[in-house]
Amino acid sequence: MNIISTKDYQEMSRKACELVAETINTIEKPILGLATGSTPEGLYQCLINKHKEEQLSFRHVTTFNLDEYVGLGSENPNSYRYFMNGKLFQHIDIRKENTYVPNGSAENLEEECVSYEELIREHGGMDLQILGIGLNGHIGFNEPGTPFTSRTHIVELDESTRQANARFFDSLEEVPTHAITTGIGTIMESKKILLLISGENKADTVTRLVNGDISEDFPASILKEHPNVTIIADEAALSKL
Ligand code: F6R
Repeated sequence: MNIISTKDYQEMSRKACELVAETINTIEKPILGLATGSTPEGLYQCLINKHKEEQLSFRHVTTFNLDEYVGLGSENPNSYRYFMNGKLFQHIDIRKENTYVPNGSAENLEEECVSYEELIREHGGMDLQILGIGLNGHIGFNEPGTPFTSRTHIVELDESTRQANARFFDSLEEVPTHAITTGIGTIMESKKILLLISGENKADTVTRLVNGDISEDFPASILKEHPNVTIIADEAALSKL
């Protein structure tokens, strides 16, 4: 794992933005894996700026999001589809039909998982997968204990994850208990992975990732076995290393 240290969140987002723009500019039909949450917001804003000011075009880009809450439709402001539309897709020239997010309100969720995984496979997997990391080491919504071979599946969210994400909802009770997530096996097939980590509250998580063993108890640890992972982390996140 290649670790790039940045002064702060803004510099982390800018550096990530350069790498994503380079992928878009060098691959004919790039397939990007996208994350939600607080961490990539600065990256998405930077990509919007690059589109508006430097004509970075997303016409040939296809995106697959990592995850979606079960039970939240695209019109729900807390759904990840809504987040992606508002934070990125609406502001760039990507074709809406080339933006994929698992459908958390599908009638048959099992079927949705199978067809989402199939769609990723048909597209040849991600050229670049963007990841954040949960305090407990989750990637996507693959919580501790998820098999490293997992494919797109339904998960029961950890209580700690629900609490961490409650800041986006009116109350903890409103945070869904389940989500659809691409699997760790799915993520590991990405050609390149870019993991973004910011803030002092992630310092213990980064330390465990870098110094700890590879174990299903800490899902992100498997990234050490991937041949092309770049971590961009700010000084606060790296402060305990
Ligand atoms: C979201 C996702 C999650 C987040 C993680 C960190 O699509 O895949 O793994 O990346 O929960 O969230 P933030 O960035 O809000 O700290």
